[in-house]
Amino acid sequence: MSVQKEIKKITTNTLQRMKANGEKISMLTAYDFSFAKIIDNANIDVILVGDSASNVMAGHETTLPITLEQMIYHASSVIRGVHRCLVVVDLPFGSYQSNSEIALASAIRIMKETGAHAIKLEGGEEVLESVKRIISAGIPVMGHLGLTPQSIYKFGTYNVRAKEAAEAAKLRHDAQLLEDAGCFAVVLEKIPALLAKEVSESLHIPTIGIGAGKYCDGQVLVMHDMLGINTEFKPRFLRQYLNIYEQVNMAVQQYVNDVKTSNFPSDAESYE
Ligand code: KIV
Repeated sequence: MSVQKEIKKITTNTLQRMKANGEKISMLTAYDFSFAKIIDNANIDVILVGDSASNVMAGHETTLPITLEQMIYHASSVIRGVHRCLVVVDLPFGSYQSNSEIALASAIRIMKETGAHAIKLEGGEEVLESVKRIISAGIPVMGHLGLTPQSIYKFGTYNVRAKEAAEAAKLRHDAQLLEDAGCFAVVLEKIPALLAKEVSESLHIPTIGIGAGKYCDGQVLVMHDMLGINTEFKPRFLRQYLNIYEQVNMAVQQYVNDVKTSNFPSDAESYE
């Protein structure tokens, strides 16, 4: 029997067993109770309460504005909808970069106030001390390398990262550092597929790719992109499984029309 099927609750240990067993890991973002419930009941392995909430929930251009309080609100809503999957929460920009003491305090707030199971933060060597300190407090950490959206103003573009040899070498080194520090998994975002393959093969912990090709140990997408809620974002790596924007738009138009023409409510939809 597969590791994923035999398990009642997914833990960080389950993910490592899945990698060892050659089973792919599925991860999706969610930010609220109702979608988290649907996604958990659909057998997802991991829900990421991503700081992409800043974009898709709050309408900001980048992930930078979202606050720790707002992440805590989203994560505690998600947790109430989940029974089985692992829930990982992003530490938002500004909540961990200053020093490892602040990073640990932010991670503790997430764990205490949301009931989530792990945190994720962006970066390699530059955040290593924080990663170690958070892990030594008993909090599981997921790393995030490649295109790290909190550094968008340093990169200047959302283009593929680590195409050049020097950046690829740093990414390989950072991935190893994160594994050695005790991270349970690492997200690889928008890097060449063959580099992601090399990193995935060299690590014992699972890699979760987004725009990093098929050789990663798992895949993650932003829910609003894959469900077609947000239809403006169409990168090459995205597979859109639904067009919710269109379906909701049509349903609302129908409702407006029914109200205006007194077709809603009917007698059957009214009380005697
Ligand atoms: O915030 C987010 O949704 C993420 C994923 C893109 C990995 O970090």
